[in-house]
Amino acid sequence: MKQKLIFISGILILSSVMAFAQKKSSSEEQKMKVFVDALIKKMTLDEKLGQLNLPGAGDITTGQSASSDIGKKIREGKVGGLFNIKSEAKIRDVQKVAVEESRLKIPLIFGMDVIHGYETAFPIPLGLSCSWDMPLIEKSARIAAVEASADGICWTFSPMVDIARDPRWGRIAEGSGEDAYLGSQIAKAMVKGYQGDDLSKNNTIMACVKHFALYGAAEAGRDYNTTDMSRLRMYNEYLPPYKAAIDAGAGSVMSSFNEIDGIPATGNKWLMTDLLRRQWGFKGFVVTDYTAINEMIDHGMGDLQQVSALALKAGIDMDMVGEGFLTTLKKSLTEGKVTMSEIDQACRRILEAKYKLGLFSDPYRYCDANRAKTEIFTPEHLQAAREIAAQTFVLLKNEKQILPIQKKGTIALIGPLADNKENMPGTWSVAVDFKKSSSLLQGMKDALGSEATLLYAKGANIVDDSLMDARISVFGKPTYRDNRTPQQLMDEAVAIAAKSDVIVAAVGESAEMSGESSSRSNIKIPVNQVALLKALLATGKPVVLVLFTGRPLDLSWESKNVPAILNVWFAGSEAGNAIADVLLGKVNPSGKLTATFPQNIGQVPIYYNHKNTGRPLAEGKWFTKFRSNYLDVSNDPLYPFGYGLSYTTFNYSDLKLDKQKIAANGTLNISVKLTNTGKYDGSEVAQLYIRDLVGSITRPVKELKGFQKVFLKAGESRTLNFTITPADLAFYNSSLQFKAEPGDFKVFVGTNSASGLEASFVLLK
Ligand code: BGC
Repeated sequence: MKQKLIFISGILILSSVMAFAQKKSSSEEQKMKVFVDALIKKMTLDEKLGQLNLPGAGDITTGQSASSDIGKKIREGKVGGLFNIKSEAKIRDVQKVAVEESRLKIPLIFGMDVIHGYETAFPIPLGLSCSWDMPLIEKSARIAAVEASADGICWTFSPMVDIARDPRWGRIAEGSGEDAYLGSQIAKAMVKGYQGDDLSKNNTIMACVKHFALYGAAEAGRDYNTTDMSRLRMYNEYLPPYKAAIDAGAGSVMSSFNEIDGIPATGNKWLMTDLLRRQWGFKGFVVTDYTAINEMIDHGMGDLQQVSALALKAGIDMDMVGEGFLTTLKKSLTEGKVTMSEIDQACRRILEAKYKLGLFSDPYRYCDANRAKTEIFTPEHLQAAREIAAQTFVLLKNEKQILPIQKKGTIALIGPLADNKENMPGTWSVAVDFKKSSSLLQGMKDALGSEATLLYAKGANIVDDSLMDARISVFGKPTYRDNRTPQQLMDEAVAIAAKSDVIVAAVGESAEMSGESSSRSNIKIPVNQVALLKALLATGKPVVLVLFTGRPLDLSWESKNVPAILNVWFAGSEAGNAIADVLLGKVNPSGKLTATFPQNIGQVPIYYNHKNTGRPLAEGKWFTKFRSNYLDVSNDPLYPFGYGLSYTTFNYSDLKLDKQKIAANGTLNISVKLTNTGKYDGSEVAQLYIRDLVGSITRPVKELKGFQKVFLKAGESRTLNFTITPADLAFYNSSLQFKAEPGDFKVFVGTNSASGLEASFVLLK
């Protein structure tokens, strides 16, 4: 009875707290509405269009902004915000022009691509996702927000949540891989990290979910290419992470470059209004991607006036760089091609964002010279970057337990990525000073001290082809091309390798071989580096391949011939130190792949949650005539989604379901015993997948529905508990209703998507 009373009073308190919070937020919304209404009334048409304009300012230098074209436009009220300008002083300067010299003194919003850290760079997002560690991912976004906001930035063009199943696409590096469930968890964590619980605080920044939508499904992995997919695939497999970010409160959305149903996303009313606003209830603003409105001319949608009107009518609020809104909407209004209420609506959304960020009450809220000096690139942030980076490395192979390397004898560190700190932050690190990153060579030197001898040689260039070399070092990340012949480089490396006890080969892609406009049709390690690996293996010494990459690679040859492979992606400011921590055993690797590694490029797209088809290949088989398979390669991936080894070993046992049948409103509890059966303490990401055996539409062979990252001491066991509710079993059916269908299911719990203990259950009507 007493307990019941406590429970009831608890509920009463909770509901009055919730009612109070709701009342507070609606009264705040009311206040914002009154403020924005009053402001819009005062604005001329030109000033309204100015708010919709996000010009490309480049990195304006202090003082010059006032006399530059941008300065003039700001004074005339023709600019709503600027992006990718770095430094508190410059931003303060520009803001001053807006709030002191423009007629209505409306503050500017300052955005930036703070994608994986600000000055303190964290691993590329694909790497971060391999940590499967939501608190750590949130922490990386929180630190990024603290640093960016200390330097004048209040809006980031992140998270990038595009599902990608094609490693040819260079921007796979910027997202969280192939899975909608994991991608959704990460999207939420990042939005929370950036925005915190109060956007008006001076250390939180507004998130911008991108690229809406389906950008990762570009045909043939070629950037900006066409996408075309069914609604079912969209709703079930590609849209969930965008929706998760919006449900988590993301303040803005960026349109993508690609088309959807034959209409570019930026002009697609179904996408931007029916889906985003009407179905999902999004209340923030939508910015285009870089010149995406103008690009609709090349898409074949009309001239600049036509495409600008199309974008506004579709639901776009802010025009990045192209100035189509600024230069043509007035004419379109006069000609009746757009309405004043459409312009007002877009303008209102921009002003509301500025209001929510607190810019009207203090336009310099994010400009604090003291914070800029004390809160950026701090030792604490670097320490966090080092710890987080080590959680993202994926141990792909470790024959004869070569790793961890003992701190003794002679270690040869060889390869074009060993002494290249500028490449360590990876793609999209606008605010980073590349020279301040830690290289693997420096990290190893510091970690080894006098305990072992470290020898170094470059061994090979990143690529031999000088044209390719020029293409992959455009943005201040040098490849340090060595003009000696490949043979000379290799001879020097083999000579030091011969003197060593173990060889660490730092090879792979350079940072700019992935990212925007960096698609590859060949996803192998460049041939000259493979030749180096062959020469090193020929010495007979143990070789550890430390793989730098922004995408899954075809490692078929390496996986057969090199005894140990540690995939380190591009790990950020502390890359070198973090890699040394793992190579030398201070940290036990626990990363798990979030994108499938294929056996060869011909298998692409390859992903774990595929459909069964009517002619599936029997498990363990390679080729069977008239089955869905290839003549020349098995259907298996080289490394499946969720895969990653540890220095220790884990065993799964005792999979138990608390019931065999779940009621339509019931819960299924699943438990499994996880034991660390090896010699090292370590973390394991236990993964739970389901399979819906019969449906009104075909269902994937497996779907991730839960995971837990658990640390266990050597020899320790723990029982892990998962719960599944009918909501976890729901999917969008042919009528696009999100429903679970009664019937038979399988559940799998294990160490990756291709192996696990298995049980069955039934969902009742
Ligand atoms: C990219 C976006 C980025 C924008 C602004 C575009 O080229 O596609 O991801 O946010 O530039 O820098």
